[in-house]
Amino acid sequence: MTFDFTPLLPAGLPPAAVRWTGLAKYNFTGGNNDADEVPVDDLIAAATASLRREGRNLATYNVANGPQGYRPLREFLVTKLKRDAGIDCTADDILLVSGSSPGLDLVNGALLTRGDTVICEKDNYQSSLTRFAKLGVTAIGIPLDKDGMRMDALAAALADCKARGVQPKMIYTIPTVQNPTATIMPEARRAEMLRLSEQYGVAVFEDDCYSDLIWSGQRPPALYAMGKAGNVIHIGTFSKSIAPALRVGFLVAPWSIMSRILPLKTDAGSGSIEQMLLAEYCGPHFAAHLPTLRKALRKKVETLMESLNEQFGTVAEFEDPKGGIFLWVKLPDNVDTMKLYQAALKEGVAINPGNEWSTDKAHSHSRLRLCFASPTHEQIREGVAILAEVCRREFGVPTRSANVERRRA
Ligand SMILES: Cc1ncc(COP(=O)(O)O)c(C=O)c1O
Repeated sequence: MTFDFTPLLPAGLPPAAVRWTGLAKYNFTGGNNDADEVPVDDLIAAATASLRREGRNLATYNVANGPQGYRPLREFLVTKLKRDAGIDCTADDILLVSGSSPGLDLVNGALLTRGDTVICEKDNYQSSLTRFAKLGVTAIGIPLDKDGMRMDALAAALADCKARGVQPKMIYTIPTVQNPTATIMPEARRAEMLRLSEQYGVAVFEDDCYSDLIWSGQRPPALYAMGKAGNVIHIGTFSKSIAPALRVGFLVAPWSIMSRILPLKTDAGSGSIEQMLLAEYCGPHFAAHLPTLRKALRKKVETLMESLNEQFGTVAEFEDPKGGIFLWVKLPDNVDTMKLYQAALKEGVAINPGNEWSTDKAHSHSRLRLCFASPTHEQIREGVAILAEVCRREFGVPTRSANVERRRA
């Protein structure tokens, strides 16, 4: 007889997990990176050098650098954030976390409680939407255009909340290479968001996950850099610039809220080895690594766009992204991408169905998100061809693929 945990489980737990069965052969899901672009040799050298020099310090929690994490990596971030994002901060304003995911939980934990309201982009990072749902928080989705979250719609939503007596807690935004739309919010729009945040007393939570991956290397200043009222919390990660399995992210916040976040971090510190190795690696190599990575990602998205054009023709609509690792694709209205996802998975092709990435199910049901960073060029070409075949079989589109007229089976 096996022990039954069921009667012991508290109410309100999320549904049980399903066991992991491995990645699909053609995997366009998740935020995985390009395996060929992980700077393995330099990471080995950095790990060896840092462990030789400071390995004995692992005997002390946080290598004796305190709860905010390994100071040399925070010092690197101070310089990087100033140079790239215009952020003026000190190492004391930075908290190192095990990837930005636990950072999202910390900020949510400090600001949100059941019944609260947050405002966010309508098409959004699935895990952020599920986090809000699990917390019992209402997420009001604001439509995007080619420049990201629309400020007229944000202003209207804030006014509407006020009229209803609802005080939203925060505007959660991914302004710099948004997930999934890859839009980049221009500076003027950022200024307007900050103005509205102050007017309505709503915090801004800026998720800058993909900001290192803009093809041109040029980005608008971070909201954190532009905000003069201490109303912005900024979060970033090394997952997309170096590797997601490293699990190193960083929160930048004024002490007024950092001091409320720190007591919620009860893990006795994020892993110090990865922080030490990153600090050692990043000083000499980070800036030179990025252009190589961006070039490789740009080539991948070109292969993906070519493959979609070849296999789906005009049936697949998308914007040529200015950066990132995702393409947000619109198929004809009769295509239910949740069903497409299920059918394609049986053929070894994994996609992210739009409904999981949006607060607006009607708008997103014929959309899908494709990650182009982790599949090889060959897998992209083959995977898209299979996807088009499955789509034609299930929904009758595309009628023409690879320049060949097709009929519904
Ligand atoms: C917008 C956004 N925020 C945060 C994360 C979490 O990344 P990580 O925990 O690896 O830093 C992701 C991952 O894909 C993301 O897309």
